[in-house]
Amino acid sequence: MTTADPTTSATAAAAARAYLMPTYPVPAVTFVRGLGSYLYDVAGMAYLDFVGGLAVTSLGHSHPAVAAALAAQSQTLLHVSNLFGTTVASEVAATLNRLLESGEGGVFFANSGAEANECAIKLARKWAGEPGQRYTVVSALNSFHGRTLATLHATGQAAKHQAFQPLPQGFRHVAYGDLAAMEAALDPTVVAAVLLETLQGETGVNEAPAAYFTGVQELCRRRRILLMIDEVQTGLGRTGRWFGFQHFGLQPDVVTMAKALGNGVPIGACWARTEIASAFVAGDHGTTFGGQPLAAAAARAVLAVMEAEDVPARAEKAGDRLRSGLLSLPGVGPVRGLGLLLAAELVGRSAMEVTAAALRRGLVLNAVTPTAIRLAPSLLVTDDEIDEALAILEAVLTEPADGAPS
Ligand SMILES: Cc1ncc(COP(=O)(O)O)c(C=O)c1O
Repeated sequence: MTTADPTTSATAAAAARAYLMPTYPVPAVTFVRGLGSYLYDVAGMAYLDFVGGLAVTSLGHSHPAVAAALAAQSQTLLHVSNLFGTTVASEVAATLNRLLESGEGGVFFANSGAEANECAIKLARKWAGEPGQRYTVVSALNSFHGRTLATLHATGQAAKHQAFQPLPQGFRHVAYGDLAAMEAALDPTVVAAVLLETLQGETGVNEAPAAYFTGVQELCRRRRILLMIDEVQTGLGRTGRWFGFQHFGLQPDVVTMAKALGNGVPIGACWARTEIASAFVAGDHGTTFGGQPLAAAAARAVLAVMEAEDVPARAEKAGDRLRSGLLSLPGVGPVRGLGLLLAAELVGRSAMEVTAAALRRGLVLNAVTPTAIRLAPSLLVTDDEIDEALAILEAVLTEPADGAPS
């Protein structure tokens, strides 16, 4: 079996980080090319990518339809600002509105997941009325909603808040999956919205029961509080449905997405039902780049391929194969998640150590907790690629824990 050359990769990694802020650990590998489910490093070694740029490259790397759309758009119109309309952004908004199946709505395009959530938070405040009265957003402990100051506070992880106090006011966190805790937190005199993920992707692909989601929706309806679903990681086919909330029959008021929408080209979107979206008037919110033609052309191509290939159904089927393959491996405990957003709990092994060993053997995984690995491959992943990834993981899990390839 081929293994990575640590000397070449480490040198390239050090060079790649020389003038960057140290917000990420020094990487073990530097990639130069990607095609489908494979990535290639500076030394030409191939890696099966089962992280997909953190659930972003849902159609795989260098998808020809996306590449062609980008090339064509770059020669047609790159940017005009949101002071003017573009047909490409309107088309993407119309397609999203249809796929969300949650009624008529309006879209605000952003450049990332955090910005899509920032828009949702501002919209909730504006919709709720009298400024300074009803503005609290309730989210879940262990959630992840972004790194801007407001979305950082919506993120239910105290350790990430510590260094950045004071954070903007108006956020409360309750245990994920605990309906009674949510009910107690939803004081309609101060709470404007609930912001929830349908799977907590960044903190372990944590699940909550269907009854929790329908119960929260019911509470929100009764207390006139917005139900905002963060589909940044789970959206656009990843879980085997177009959106994670569709597993639970929800009709959210606001939905945010990003990651897979551009297959690697930065674009985010915040959708809201028309009557809620219309709380915003011109000048309330804005962005120079959000939904600009190049990003929108990528999104239009992504959605067209996803619809033509029924990507959610493919993700569901491939997810079943990956899940049962994982469950049959020695050293794998419970597997969480839906479709192709899965986390496998490891028995008696460190996820960091297993991830590093897999990388040396040419498989890209993510240590999502100290004891669990996350898998989020391309939604077009083939059965052979799934089997190849499982074989590499099996080799890693059966080798001695010091990581020497057998
Ligand atoms: C559920 C969720 N929301 C928001 C974000 C933030 O997205 P971005 O990194 O594009 O700002 C992420 C990123 O991982 C996410 O998983």
